[in-house]
Amino acid sequence: MKADKRAKEAAPVDGKTGAGDRRGKSAKVSVNTPADGASAGPVSVSGADTYRRLLTYIKPYKKQFAIAVAGMLGYAITDTAFAALMKPMLDGSFVDQDQSAILFIPLMIIGIFLLRGIAGFASTYYIAWIGWRVIKQLRGEIFEKYLTLPTAFYDRSSSGELISRITFNSQMVANAASNSLTVIVRDSLTAIGLLGLMFYQSWQLALIFLVIGPAIVIIVARVSKKFRSISRSIQGSMGEVSHVIQEAVEGARVIKIFGGQDEEMAQFELANESNRAFNMKETVVKALNEPIVQLLVALALATIVYIASSGDVADRISVGSFMSFITAMLLLFSPLKRMTTLNSQIQKGIAAGESLFAILDLESERDHGTDILDASIQSIEYRDVCLRYTEDKPVVLQNISLSIAAGETVAFVGESGSGKTSLVNLLPRLYELDSGEMRVNDKPVDEYTLRSLRGRIATVSQDVMLFNDTIASNIAYGSSETVDEATLHTACKAAHAHDFIISLPDGYATMVGENGVMLSGGQKQRVAIARALLKNAPILILDEATSALDTESERKVQQGLDALMLGRTTLVIAHRLSTIEQADRIVVLNKGQIVEIGSHKELLAKQAHYYKLHQLQFR
Ligand SMILES: Nc1ncnc2c1ncn2[C@@H]1O[C@H](COP(=O)(O)OP(=O)(O)OP(=O)(O)O)[C@@H](O)[C@H]1O
Ligand SMILES: [Mg+2]
Repeated sequence: MKADKRAKEAAPVDGKTGAGDRRGKSAKVSVNTPADGASAGPVSVSGADTYRRLLTYIKPYKKQFAIAVAGMLGYAITDTAFAALMKPMLDGSFVDQDQSAILFIPLMIIGIFLLRGIAGFASTYYIAWIGWRVIKQLRGEIFEKYLTLPTAFYDRSSSGELISRITFNSQMVANAASNSLTVIVRDSLTAIGLLGLMFYQSWQLALIFLVIGPAIVIIVARVSKKFRSISRSIQGSMGEVSHVIQEAVEGARVIKIFGGQDEEMAQFELANESNRAFNMKETVVKALNEPIVQLLVALALATIVYIASSGDVADRISVGSFMSFITAMLLLFSPLKRMTTLNSQIQKGIAAGESLFAILDLESERDHGTDILDASIQSIEYRDVCLRYTEDKPVVLQNISLSIAAGETVAFVGESGSGKTSLVNLLPRLYELDSGEMRVNDKPVDEYTLRSLRGRIATVSQDVMLFNDTIASNIAYGSSETVDEATLHTACKAAHAHDFIISLPDGYATMVGENGVMLSGGQKQRVAIARALLKNAPILILDEATSALDTESERKVQQGLDALMLGRTTLVIAHRLSTIEQADRIVVLNKGQIVEIGSHKELLAKQAHYYKLHQLQFR
């Protein structure tokens, strides 16, 4: 059962990222192939399903949609009306000198363009209005999803890819949708109107147009396709340029120390040059596009003028009808050209939509529990717990059974990679067990709401994560009540962070920089300890909480931690064995299995695993 679920989660979310692959090398595609290769990806949704699902996002905006469509209709009508007006203008005003026509036609011209302006504005405005609402909605839903996905999902995915889903793909969906709508409604109506007018003015000429017109449109479409593919390459090469810059900026320290300047410079030169070359190519195609299209249109025009004026058609068609015909024909080219892109627009939108829905359809963390975990913790129990991160990897934890009593401090030791972090991460349910059971207060952990379970656990982890905000907000992060200054300072004093914080130029208001780069490793760790202190939770998880501190400050912080651990149930991991000698029990892990449990003294007396670890450190 669980295996099935895993496989489903592990299925590539980037299933069809036709949309997301524009960034060349910088597109770090998430490496998330299903473990055994045989497990299926998400059931491939048909384009129609995606399309229908996208429509549901527009449904609430029926009124605005109707206005937009009406605007497009008006736009289409005015185009045809303008071409039609050519006949009375030339035949009536100029040839016959009809007084009413002389007055009426200019008014009509103003009227037509007024209507066209209003209709054009209304449709553009409301399409954008709906589009941005849909984008906002999609972004909100995906962001919310990102907050609730299982931890394993983030392990597998590249952050760049996840960001571009929210920013780029959602916009792509809306753009493609509004473009195709414009083509379907406005362009097709315009085309019908203009063609109808052409047949009305002269069916013989219209038939001739039907022969040469499509040929021209197809050639034009080819040219623009080339044009689009080049501009995609430009986007790719631009992505490459920013990718190199990003790495150079972020990796500035490594580059300096390892003397990578020349290499970076060479890489940048490559990207920079290819970007220049692509842009020149685009300029050439762009500059050629226009005259070629005009030449082709001129060819059509010339053919029709020749036929109209040489044959017997000329006898039957007035100057006005002919001009009206030609105007309609010229106006017809751009809608026809856009109509040839309809399919690719729709495909683009559907591909982008699919990649978004793939995320939205991922299973969130299981959170079916309804019980609220009490603040008083009586027991924590691991019952025969096994854990595997992915199907193809070996088990990381094997048949772990362990009971922890209220207020007990249990230390975990073992070689790097023996599974200590994995074991403690199971308690706040950051990962799902493969088999076995975890119980708190004699109830399976999944009977509690995730929020209440995690609310009772404070952690200081191996890699401290700080937000790009002030020190004060970082420490108060996640605390339910607003934290007053005195409480904040007390926590920081206990964590031995207060002194260094007030010595900073802005004190508690100092910005820590992206992921806390402005602070030293030890300072970050003390901030994290203060954060955990402030949370005041009954269960404490310390995963190498003092590893970045020197012996002197470690001793001081340890005093703070000791005070903190009083009366709490604590799971502590430490490489430096001296820090855990006082623990009630020490659990020794080896290759994912518990090999020894006992107090410091007992384990030393045993002269086995713990003894060896101890010997290594203290000899
Ligand atoms: N998120 C993860 N996804 C896949 N495998 C993982 C993940 N985290 C850890 N592992 C693997 O699980 C095993 C145990 O890792 P864990 O981090 O629990 O070890 P540890 O005992 O905490 O080591 P250290 O002392 O170095 O922190 C390792 O082999 C590691 O490669
Ligand atoms: Mg670890």
